[in-house]
Amino acid sequence: MSIIAPSILSADFSKLGDEIKAVEAAGAGWIHIDVMDGHFVPNLTYGPIIVEACKRVTDLPLDVHLMIEKPDQLIPEFVKAGADWISVHAEACTHLNRSIQLIKSLGAKAGVALNPATPISAIEWVLEDLDFVLVMSVNPGFGGQSFIDNSLDKVREIKRMITEKGLDTLIQIDGGVNKKTIRTIAEAGVDSFVAGSAIFGSESYDETIAVFKKEISE
Ligand code: DX5
Ligand code: ZN
Repeated sequence: MSIIAPSILSADFSKLGDEIKAVEAAGAGWIHIDVMDGHFVPNLTYGPIIVEACKRVTDLPLDVHLMIEKPDQLIPEFVKAGADWISVHAEACTHLNRSIQLIKSLGAKAGVALNPATPISAIEWVLEDLDFVLVMSVNPGFGGQSFIDNSLDKVREIKRMITEKGLDTLIQIDGGVNKKTIRTIAEAGVDSFVAGSAIFGSESYDETIAVFKKEISE
């Protein structure tokens, strides 16, 4: 599966609705929403009210990436606001299994994100329960950073585990995805490609997403 998930972190917030409609028309598959709390990551963004606003302008699935401490407190609010896919960080959850079960019990798809320095073993005992694994290919907190190359080894190893166990878990990558990097990322086994600055910083969203899809399919 190949899904392009534009991250609205790099969108123009003075016209967020138009930005979302533009990437939807350009062929985006999901809308990626980066929630930051100023504690887990050194930046602060938005909460459920923005998710709710996005829901009103698009039918695309909303993919909510929670870069927050104690996510269980807010997961119900995000689902109520319209989150379809929710990822929590392994490093931010004391009871990771509980957080995953909470997301699923509310009817959303559950993912776990791994920071670049976090070993794959952090998800070994929850992999069967996951709808997706988010491999961070930059340190979370900001858009526009460079892709960390060894993330590809991490993707390959997770892909091997998923195949070995006969699961259909998706792998998502987040950070530094652009026209130059996307082909090798796809070859490593990624299904869902988050891209912020490479899409919203480009002149034509249509052209950028078309090139992404071409690179992935070749
Ligand atoms: C970073 C966020 C990303 C960010 C990616 O913490 O999780 O989703 O928007 O930005 P780019 O695509 O510019 O690296
Ligand atoms: Zn993200």
